[in-house]
Amino acid sequence: MKRVDDFRLRLGKHELVPIMVGGMGVDISSADLAVEVARLGGVGHISDAMIKTVSDRRYKTKFVKDKLALYKYNVENEDKSPVKFDLGKLAEATRLHVEGSMSRKTGDGMIFINCMEKLTMNAPKETLKVRMEAAMDAGIEGITLAAGLHLGSFALIEAHPRFRDVQLGIIVSSVRALQLFLKKNFRTGRLPDYIVVEGPLAGGHLGFGMDWAQYDLATIVTEVIQYLKNENLDIPVIPAGGIFTGSDATAFLEAGAAAVQVATRFTVAEECGLPTAVKQEYFKASEEDIEVNQISPTGYPMRMIKGSPGIGSGIRPNCEAYGYLLDANGKCSYVTAYNREVAAHPEARKITVMDKTCLCTHMRNFDIWTCGHLTYRLKDTTRRLEDGSYQVLSAEHIFKDYQFSVEQKIALPEL
Ligand SMILES: Cc1cc2nc3c(=O)[nH]c(=O)nc-3n(C[C@H](O)[C@H](O)[C@H](O)COP(=O)(O)O)c2cc1C
Repeated sequence: MKRVDDFRLRLGKHELVPIMVGGMGVDISSADLAVEVARLGGVGHISDAMIKTVSDRRYKTKFVKDKLALYKYNVENEDKSPVKFDLGKLAEATRLHVEGSMSRKTGDGMIFINCMEKLTMNAPKETLKVRMEAAMDAGIEGITLAAGLHLGSFALIEAHPRFRDVQLGIIVSSVRALQLFLKKNFRTGRLPDYIVVEGPLAGGHLGFGMDWAQYDLATIVTEVIQYLKNENLDIPVIPAGGIFTGSDATAFLEAGAAAVQVATRFTVAEECGLPTAVKQEYFKASEEDIEVNQISPTGYPMRMIKGSPGIGSGIRPNCEAYGYLLDANGKCSYVTAYNREVAAHPEARKITVMDKTCLCTHMRNFDIWTCGHLTYRLKDTTRRLEDGSYQVLSAEHIFKDYQFSVEQKIALPEL
């Protein structure tokens, strides 16, 4: 009987355990987690979501405070379009995080960065280019382009000296999105080095509409593999979303996938960036506690635990400090929703906003508990302790369970 360890993922000169731990913003897929996954021979991701906040926390910089000081005059204004990112500081924050992660790397695995196109930052192209180029300057081994179609993203960095050496991957949720990407990207003469096919059970933002439940990862993966075969394209395909056991992963590898991308099981790893109390919320969640809703200002449906404190919260937008979701015109649908509620309840000291959330502030504070669909099975992957809490796992334990387990078994940790 085969197991994940019988397969290898080849990327450039590297031969890897075919387990990729997906990017999880904001700093949920921390440097600690990525470094550990690389040590074990797989691919770990850091994320560049809210990179200035991450840098301030991890590397003692003051990017957020400085930005807020610069734009303090605008805090009470409805119009957020004057709030811009300083591209030099954005590059500096990215470099710090990437260098900080890469300098700790050991083992035969790799460390990639997850870059979301939907972090439009009031200057989508300019900020994405700076984020990707600074990551390459700082020695990142791969960039996974997420949350968006990325039709022009490769072209943004084609003049960079590492354009052909860094591993570049895209995340798609349909053959159509892949076809579109390949067509638009043809001019750069650069194919993706890997394609993550993310299905409807994944965590974070989904590449589907609210009809996500009608789709199925295995079907989309089969279609993508067949399409690449028809086009004579030899690109590793990496399914993601709902791959919970080593056996689930092995089934995809036997069907022609080059690796799997997983995340949910690592949200309860010691090395994962979620606060300890939030990890317990993930363990406790039942299937009914998990929903896909439309409160993310990105416009993409997002999966989260219903009890997330950020749902319904009507806090004042904090674009002067953050502002990662301001579109090219300096607008964010949470700001619009917030202003609407303030106008409707002029006397209220505290308002509620149900249709959108201030994702920047709440992801920063770990108050939107985004998660994969199978989060409700996490309690079956560990032990319940005497005080009623669940035992947090090591990333090594989870990684090796994926790597070696068979027959849908999940190894419990030692007490
Ligand atoms: C807590 C959490 C946060 C996530 N954040 C991101 C993100 O910032 N960017 C992204 O591309 N994918 C994100 N994802 C998706 C994962 O990278 C991954 O593709 C997917 O969740 C794999 O499915 P699984 O969680 O069922 O294993 C997130 C997933 C989780 C669980």
